[in-house]
Amino acid sequence: MLLRRIVVGALAAFLSFAATASVRAADDGGILVFGGTGRLGSDIVNLLVKAGQDVTVFARSTSNRDRLKGLDVKYVTGDVLNDGDVAAALAGGNYRTVIVALIAPQGDMTFYSKAIKHITDHAQTTGVKQIIHHGAVGAGKNAENFRVAYGWDKRPGLLDRLADQGVGEDLIKASGITYTIIRNARIYPEDTPSTGHAVLTEDDTVMTPNARADLAIYTVECVDNPDCANKTYHMRDTSLTWPPPGRGAE
Ligand SMILES: NC(=O)c1ccc[n+]([C@@H]2O[C@H](COP(=O)([O-])OP(=O)(O)OC[C@H]3O[C@@H](n4cnc5c(N)ncnc54)[C@H](OP(=O)(O)O)[C@@H]3O)[C@@H](O)[C@H]2O)c1
Repeated sequence: MLLRRIVVGALAAFLSFAATASVRAADDGGILVFGGTGRLGSDIVNLLVKAGQDVTVFARSTSNRDRLKGLDVKYVTGDVLNDGDVAAALAGGNYRTVIVALIAPQGDMTFYSKAIKHITDHAQTTGVKQIIHHGAVGAGKNAENFRVAYGWDKRPGLLDRLADQGVGEDLIKASGITYTIIRNARIYPEDTPSTGHAVLTEDDTVMTPNARADLAIYTVECVDNPDCANKTYHMRDTSLTWPPPGRGAE
């Protein structure tokens, strides 16, 4: 069913979701978003709030909250690398879904191994029912599909970062919590609107550019959606060229 909606296009899919979302919001628990102040995370939070969901954003005390200005969201403050902060955040709410849109600091090759361990440990003990994680094309063993063709061996640190992403994915899969992993790559600049041509695919050889707006639409589409259960997706968008015309790649 999800795949049928996916080929119809991302925007149509979101509209169909929005019609029922306010009913789902009343079901149980809210949604906790890690990285919700960021570029992808704030797009996701915007759509969730517009759909009537009960949203809490996990943010550092130093995080810039401007992208969420005026939105009806709650905050919990903490650093995802601090296990106690994550434990307190998850214990402080009755969350049914956790969304992860974090990015590792440059040069940190163990960020996801640590952050996702904290999140899955405490999601398990607090009864979270669903995790939606934004990862990277090439995570873990998936790097083998691209390593030689894209010369990844020659890019310092890249395979280590992707190995760390793979450990994060494996922790999520081993947690026993229903998961959806959406791997992205070659993200277009922040203000790029939905193209209407993005599709999610389980073909793990796909690597095309993506717009955050489309990643956000599909994230919201997967909330509470059994069609996304225990799936690892790549997003294919053949309408976007690389690098973005007239702009530097991010
Ligand atoms: N940007 C890219 O080039 C790129 C490329 C490939 C894949 N991706 C994927 O796209 C997704 C999001 O990317 P993005 O560009 O939207 O990211 P972004 O704008 O840099 O946002 C990252 C978010 O993570 C939060 N964060 C980072 N470290 C944290 C910590 N220790 N504790 C709590 N929060 C922390 C940031 O909070 P602060 O404001 O406090 O820093 C921010 O809200 C990720 O899944 C990433 O793997 C991005």
